Amino acid sequence: MSILITGGAGYIGSHTLVELANANYDFIVYDNLSNSSSESLNRVEKIIGKSITFINGDIRDTAKLKEVFGNHSIDSVIHFAGLKAVGQSVEQPLEYYDNNVVGTLRLLEVMSEFGCKKIVFSSSATVYTDPDKLNIQHSKLNIKEYSPLREDSPVGGTTNPYGTSKYMIERILEDLYISDNSFKIAILRYFNPVGAHKSGTIGEDPNGIPNNLMPFISQVAVGKREYLSVFGSDYDTHDGTGVRDYIHVVDLAYGHVKAIDYLNNHENIKPLVVNLGTGTGYSVIDVVKAFEKASGKKVPYKLVDRRAGDIAKCFADPSYAKELLGWVAKRSLDEMCEDSWRWQSNNPDGYEVK
Ligand code: NAD
Ligand code: UFG
Repeated sequence: MSILITGGAGYIGSHTLVELANANYDFIVYDNLSNSSSESLNRVEKIIGKSITFINGDIRDTAKLKEVFGNHSIDSVIHFAGLKAVGQSVEQPLEYYDNNVVGTLRLLEVMSEFGCKKIVFSSSATVYTDPDKLNIQHSKLNIKEYSPLREDSPVGGTTNPYGTSKYMIERILEDLYISDNSFKIAILRYFNPVGAHKSGTIGEDPNGIPNNLMPFISQVAVGKREYLSVFGSDYDTHDGTGVRDYIHVVDLAYGHVKAIDYLNNHENIKPLVVNLGTGTGYSVIDVVKAFEKASGKKVPYKLVDRRAGDIAKCFADPSYAKELLGWVAKRSLDEMCEDSWRWQSNNPDGYEVK
């Protein structure tokens, strides 16, 4: 029996393949390579010492999905495939809803048809209601208590089509379970994945100018960009810059192994909704300092205006993941920076093979 890994050639998917192989799970990768390179799979093959079955396909292609389910014994799916750039989703909402929501519907339809009823879904901390949208006066919550975020914190007040697409998919999965209790579903809400595999051969390879902090810092340190723009220095945080829950991608990847183990070992379970974070928030300046230490390079930065849509602090309460799955994030911010740096300095042009 194999696990179908949609989006398995991407950043988190490729790291999860390594952890699944370490845990002796068999898998098949299904990816349209719209935001990745098959070179990541070649590199994973070297790490795990095994060849990987890869199918180049789109999750919206029902005929191709049926062919895959018809030709292989697939008993579960880890569903990473999706578009993830927040800013781009505001400009191209239809593309995002089509790819993420319609793509997931097509996948679930084919899974149902073939009796495959176990799915782990990549959700995001972005589904939690933006504090600006919380009606504080009528809520039991105090704004100061927004983070740490618990799985039962308010969700759905999203600020962009990307976040809304994740929220919609969570609802679809919950409704699917209501209609068919034999579905086993794990919704994993990731905080801010960073870092790379210890080998320095796989990592995050963004197209164009990185939107996210760690890839941007890495590119400054390696000399590809002049300086980092720090978005906002007047937040209510220890140094005025935004605070996030950065989680090492290998810890995150291992969370998927624990989720699949759980689904395999339990019957009659309601959909699990689990935060995957460390529970510790670091500021932008904390990350810059840690990266300078790890790389031995200076990371010049300029303090600029806040980025629209950003919040001051966002970090997880990760206690449910520990209680339910026996999972905790183990790797420190220093290790995240060291591993990001090893990947970036060994592969300044990412997977582009020259
Ligand atoms: P990624 O872009 O590196 O990986 C996504 C993969 O899905 C890519 O390989 C892409 O080619 C593939 N893909 C996209 N649309 C597809 C389609 N229609 N059919 C088949 N394949 C398709 O992104 P990632 O960082 O590895 O993220 C994986 C998942 O985790 C995504 O669903 C993302 O939304 C979610 N997530 C990521 C973060 C983050 O900060 N990286 C945070 C929270 C949630
Ligand atoms: N930041 C900068 N300069 C940059 C980039 C980011 O100062 O060039 C700051 C941001 O203002 C924020 C922090 O660094 O304070 C982290 O920003 P990221 O863009 O790396 O991450 P976000 O927390 O904004 O969002 C990320 C993903 C979302 C996901 C969310 C929670 O982009 O898709 O984490 O999982 F939903």
